[in-house]
Amino acid sequence: MAHVACGIDIGGSGVKGALVDLETGEYIGEQIRIPTPNPATPEAVAAVCREVIDQLDVKIGVPIGVTFPAPVFDGVIPYMANLDQSWVNVDVDELMERYLGRAVVALNDADAAGIAEVAYGAAKGRDGVIVFTTQGTGIGSAIIVNGTLLTNTELGHLEIDGTDAEKNASSGQKTLQGLDWEQWAERLQRYYGHVEFLLNPDLFVVGGGVSENHEKFMPLLKLKTPMIPAKLLNTAGIVGAAYYAAQHSS
Ligand code: BGC
Repeated sequence: MAHVACGIDIGGSGVKGALVDLETGEYIGEQIRIPTPNPATPEAVAAVCREVIDQLDVKIGVPIGVTFPAPVFDGVIPYMANLDQSWVNVDVDELMERYLGRAVVALNDADAAGIAEVAYGAAKGRDGVIVFTTQGTGIGSAIIVNGTLLTNTELGHLEIDGTDAEKNASSGQKTLQGLDWEQWAERLQRYYGHVEFLLNPDLFVVGGGVSENHEKFMPLLKLKTPMIPAKLLNTAGIVGAAYYAAQHSS
């Protein structure tokens, strides 16, 4: 495997990229962040990704992983929850190759963050069934079984009590609806209790900015499964994208 790879994380507010040392899972040099264009159409975002790799001066041959806030099946986005709807059915492998002048490895943002936590972070060296969720505008998920990622799970869109789960239990909704920690924890209890019932995991890892405040909500939850906060926080998407790209670049 390469020792250095590049990760690019496409989010609703920013497109971020960095070179990553794959031995340590740490950035080499600075992270670049460019605001997500508005409207965030595929072509506009791809042009920003180009800008990111130019600023990072990523050499040809260095694997590049790019994350999307959506599932990516065979290089194509089947639906998009929280970014411009023009992404639906876009072949992102083709789009990125056209703009970046080289092949990239495209993957889901939560999958990237989840494998980063297993490779370098909170779940490093842990076997069994790990359910990683990332809390933000939506809820992203990654399931890792004995180190192997089950790609493109969408546990944020479980329908619970007639509602798309992320519309009720995401940290974005906590902010939008002005919920206090207790009120939000009730929703989390319903959500993670249901996921636990369906999957019986060995470990929950919770990422996203709100996991910095884990002591405000994790102690309020009554689950059989241990739950721990993510460790990499802001860097997880980029680090995981780089790691995955190094493993899957041809
Ligand atoms: C999307 C997922 C994504 C998550 C976090 C959800 O709405 O469907 O694919 O991982 O948001 O961005």
